[in-house]
Amino acid sequence: MGWIKFGPDDATTARITSLAEQIAHHSHLYYNAAAPEISDAEFDVLWDELKSLDPEHPQLRRIGAPIAPGSVKVEHRFPMRSLDKATGDDEVAHFVAETTARGRRFVAQPKLDGSALSLEYRRGRLTRAATRGSGERGEDVTSNALRIPNIPDKLSWEGDCHVRGEVVMHLDVFFEKYSKIAPNPRNLAAGSLRQKNIESGKGDASDLTFHAYDVRFVPNEDKHPDSPEALHFENDSESIAWLRSIGITPAEEVVIVGTNDDDTTQALLDETKRWTENRNKAPWEIDGVVFKLDNLAKRELLGETAHHPRWALAWKFPPEEATSVLLDIDWQTGRTGAVTPVARVAPVVVSGVTVENTTLHNVGEVERLGISIGDKVRVVRRGDVIPKIIETMGPAQPNDIKDRFHANGEEFTGKLPPSSPPKIPTECPECSTELSLDGAFLRCSNLSCPARLARSILYWCRALEMDGIGEKLVDQLCEADLVKTIPDLYRLNSEQIQGLERMAEKSATNVMKQLDGTRELPLNIFLSALGLPGIGPELATAFAGEICTIDALISLGEDDLERLVAIEGVGDTVAYSLMKGIAYRSEMVEDFNQILTITEVAKTKAPSGPLVGFSFCITGTLTRPRKEIALKTKMAGGKVVSAVSGKLDYLVAGENAGSKLDKARRLGVTVLNEKEWEEMLQP
Ligand code: IVH
Repeated sequence: MGWIKFGPDDATTARITSLAEQIAHHSHLYYNAAAPEISDAEFDVLWDELKSLDPEHPQLRRIGAPIAPGSVKVEHRFPMRSLDKATGDDEVAHFVAETTARGRRFVAQPKLDGSALSLEYRRGRLTRAATRGSGERGEDVTSNALRIPNIPDKLSWEGDCHVRGEVVMHLDVFFEKYSKIAPNPRNLAAGSLRQKNIESGKGDASDLTFHAYDVRFVPNEDKHPDSPEALHFENDSESIAWLRSIGITPAEEVVIVGTNDDDTTQALLDETKRWTENRNKAPWEIDGVVFKLDNLAKRELLGETAHHPRWALAWKFPPEEATSVLLDIDWQTGRTGAVTPVARVAPVVVSGVTVENTTLHNVGEVERLGISIGDKVRVVRRGDVIPKIIETMGPAQPNDIKDRFHANGEEFTGKLPPSSPPKIPTECPECSTELSLDGAFLRCSNLSCPARLARSILYWCRALEMDGIGEKLVDQLCEADLVKTIPDLYRLNSEQIQGLERMAEKSATNVMKQLDGTRELPLNIFLSALGLPGIGPELATAFAGEICTIDALISLGEDDLERLVAIEGVGDTVAYSLMKGIAYRSEMVEDFNQILTITEVAKTKAPSGPLVGFSFCITGTLTRPRKEIALKTKMAGGKVVSAVSGKLDYLVAGENAGSKLDKARRLGVTVLNEKEWEEMLQP
């Protein structure tokens, strides 16, 4: 009896399975582990054979081995920066003045309020998709990105590039399917993108849309050998048109060209007005307008800060407001010992989000607002920023509270509290240590205060990206007295963790694995994870580049002040914060030094150039943007400061220089015009 064969024979089926497995294995080594075992050419042979045997094989759609979204971290080859923000007309005018010395052409796009995504294409195929994360490292979300209908898994250009954009959810779809499970479309877009599987109920990525706003090309020396060379466009508007031509959907753009600063500013402001009028017509949420210099060479010249590029500005819609009633104020001790007031208000919806807790920043702010419990208050929420009480409108009336509703339609049943002035605590709400006033802040000075400890541990774990150690586990560890200082984490064993409620062997092993993975770390990361007051990751890196070793950090003293303040962006205050913070924690730092391997960081190169050792302040109208002058001064080794003092070496003054010029003359500081400054740049 003969068989009619519909599919491949057994040998071919086995070969297909084997090829798919090999491709998954080598892709994982290449993309996830960054440790390839075979050459690109050998990989392509496997790929082409699978394609010839089974062109529709799912492994051809997914280059990496299937990985659960969120479980693998991705180092962004091109960091994903943030944007400088503006809300007022004068900030737009300032941006124009600072950027347009050689032409005035901008690309304007709506600022889409979603979740940023980077798509990596290699030989025109989507090989990986990652969230923005910290900007330097994001999470691999390839499998979810592949479900987004307008993300092509193959471009019509077969080269290597990274396409960046925003993933948004159509408002229609959001209100039809998801408004009960998520506060707004942005949260849902982020959740759908990062969820481990669709059944998690966080939203289906196939309901999302991608809009590109940037493309970067992999330099020729790193591209796949068979890929075409990196492309170079003169203007961003050309790269947007090109993206469209290869199958990507860019955010809609207009190009604005002005003839002088005033009409350029006006044209940008007109664009903000156009979007203000059309905001509600857009099918997805937008929270402002992004302006970017169109000319890419000029972008290079202006450069970027660690936070944002200098050639772009995000103008944000004015904040949305609502009124509510202040029900109570809770005081919370944070990681640095600052005791901050959290206002509990009757639930109120502000720009799509139900607000019940808002920050009052510090005791100074409570006093400044003159607020009482039971007051009617104005609450403002600006885009992604935490809601804030900006004003009290005096004692609330019963109707003020009756009209408030939860987002899900439930009526608020709480009662209007009797009017009473806020009680400012004198003792730490956690450990009862007497509080002291430090500027506008109340502070608990007890380093082993349980609230400070738990928050410092969490900060440490987050800084070292130990995702398996969350708030709940940290609280359990502290409550069980297993951890009394951060270094105690490294003395834990698996049995102790398993002894905690709801900690199975698997989770305990995971926690131990994460801790073990951070037993060796460079000084900059160590310093940043300590979370010293006023010292964030950027300053920690700057300090580490000067201090270099843990031993030098431990022995910091007054003598070091001079070299610390010589670091770009470091003044007396932060230098003291560092020294005080370390001295305060000397025992813990010594303990860490015993238990961890804290590796040396290379010394930041000393500046070189003709301006080394001189400080400059720049003022007035010059022929170039001030930022360009500042940048060139720094590149020539000079230090740029923002204020005139007796210590200043040179004031570079343009036309209409005002009070700074007067002050410089009074103090006998040498004043340079632009030409004299230019001459100083010559080596
Ligand atoms: S340009 C160097 N254009 O806004 C950064 N960003 O607040 C280049 N965003 O992280 C970004 N719409 O995710 C750009 N049309 C647009 C945008 C946009 C939304 C997001 C982006 C960025 C965030 C910064």
